[in-house]
Amino acid sequence: MIRRPLSFLTIAIAIFVIFYLYHFANQFAVSPHLRSPVTGDDTRIAPPPPLGAQPDANPKDRYITVTTTVSSVTTKTAFSGSKVDTTVDSVAPLPADYSPSDDDLDQDATWCETRYSPTYLQTIAKNARPFCKPESQSQLDCLHSTMYGEPRKDSLCIARNIVFEDLRFNIDCELRDPHEPDLMGYPHPHNFQSYWYETGPRIIMTQFTKIGSEAAPVFEKHACSNPATPRDDGYKILIKREGGRNYWHSLMEILSFYFTIDALQMSINKKTGKPYMSAADTSKIQVIILDKHDNKNYFELWNYFSPKPVLTLDEYVKDPSTKPCISNLIIPLPGAANPLWQGDWDPRICDHSIIVSTIRSRILKHLKISAARDLRSPINVTFIDRKGSRKLINSKELTDALIAAYPKVNVNVVDMAKLSLKEQISLVVNTDVLVGVHGAGHTHVLFLPSQSSLVEILPADLGHRGFRNLAGLRGIRYFSDHAPMAPSDKPDALRDWHAEDVVFDKDAFMKLMEVAIQSVAHRGLLDSDVS
Ligand SMILES: *[C@@H]1O[C@H](CO)[C@@H](O)[C@H](O)[C@H]1NC(C)=O
Repeated sequence: MIRRPLSFLTIAIAIFVIFYLYHFANQFAVSPHLRSPVTGDDTRIAPPPPLGAQPDANPKDRYITVTTTVSSVTTKTAFSGSKVDTTVDSVAPLPADYSPSDDDLDQDATWCETRYSPTYLQTIAKNARPFCKPESQSQLDCLHSTMYGEPRKDSLCIARNIVFEDLRFNIDCELRDPHEPDLMGYPHPHNFQSYWYETGPRIIMTQFTKIGSEAAPVFEKHACSNPATPRDDGYKILIKREGGRNYWHSLMEILSFYFTIDALQMSINKKTGKPYMSAADTSKIQVIILDKHDNKNYFELWNYFSPKPVLTLDEYVKDPSTKPCISNLIIPLPGAANPLWQGDWDPRICDHSIIVSTIRSRILKHLKISAARDLRSPINVTFIDRKGSRKLINSKELTDALIAAYPKVNVNVVDMAKLSLKEQISLVVNTDVLVGVHGAGHTHVLFLPSQSSLVEILPADLGHRGFRNLAGLRGIRYFSDHAPMAPSDKPDALRDWHAEDVVFDKDAFMKLMEVAIQSVAHRGLLDSDVS
């Protein structure tokens, strides 16, 4: 008789407890607070946008990944469903030395961390500042990077509610006093960093925008303040390229564009309490090219987020769908601000960057290139045979010798300039050893498979370490040697390594290739003999 009410009570309590725990668990699982390992402070930012496959997780990122995973996975699995699964229980944290404290990180690790781990994007996302007085019709918010050991701050901006007229984007924004406490320590739009090749937000704002009350009349003229006026609610992004001809320079610009959009999806707009952009908003991005460089190289990569055609400013003006009233305008980080540009004359030990591996999978996916290889097939050596500047004048002698010495290895001698971008990258994802004279072709180290090798023949006494450092970020082995400039009538003082051809000693080349080939032959997943 007394058993029945008791068991009802037990069930009621049990249900209450389960609901309570479930609610509690979810609160943790969706918490937007991530702890930054460098600054140690609580960051009010959204989680990073989906980063795609991350095959080479950075050991230095482990405490970001591990901490968030532990709290969400354990709490979620333990309390989802109506029954508590006792086989998957919550666990106590990892022993403390798995999560080094700020003091344990040495300066080099911090240098790498603030450039090549998600911390780079999280820092930009955290440092958003509104620059317009509240009575302005437009908004201009700018986000700022900070990298350890670099006094410069790079900026990107997003403007809301603007008007396009006469080749200018009009931003009706009364700039706030730079001495207001929340703006202290941040550059003011007029003093933003300047970059080479006349790129970056400062020059874009000077040449292609009008900021201030002088922008107000065009708002009147087009009735853009009237909510009934039709407006373009996409996201226009203004790109001023360095040239578009050099693969490395172009890729740096494109990656800075990707980082800009990533950071805008993570940064919380204080006015709305939501990120500046959602994942769905990225399909409304339209790239507008402001420079006059007459080429459309790499436009397929500018189309990563959205299929909307990339337009030059002239094409944009003529486009029948162009409207004067625009909801969103983005002024991105320039290529020169890219952390991959940094420290390229110094040797660095930054390994396995999650940012770099994410970019790799993004681009492969976007270009629909499969990274699957036939691991039983012979090893592939790809020799980049430059035909323009910095030719290797005895390249035929060297590649013939290589083919003769390694009958069981596929040696491809290619002029990358003859291939489309997709053809080049498809070749590189199947390459085990990539070799050539220092040049933009080495940018392809970004797309080599893991466990492969990069060989760089450096002209004269060039001490450039950019590709070597990039190989390190991908966890790829790197070998190099120097080759003298080819004989010439020109006096040495007038010769510049950029332009001069080189000649490389055959024995030195064979020695270099021997270590590079052997270093991949029986490593990782490969098994073929090479000689
Ligand atoms: C070598 O290249 C061929 C052709 O591109 C490819 O099918 C194969 O998977 C590559 N092998 C290795 C070991 O990378």
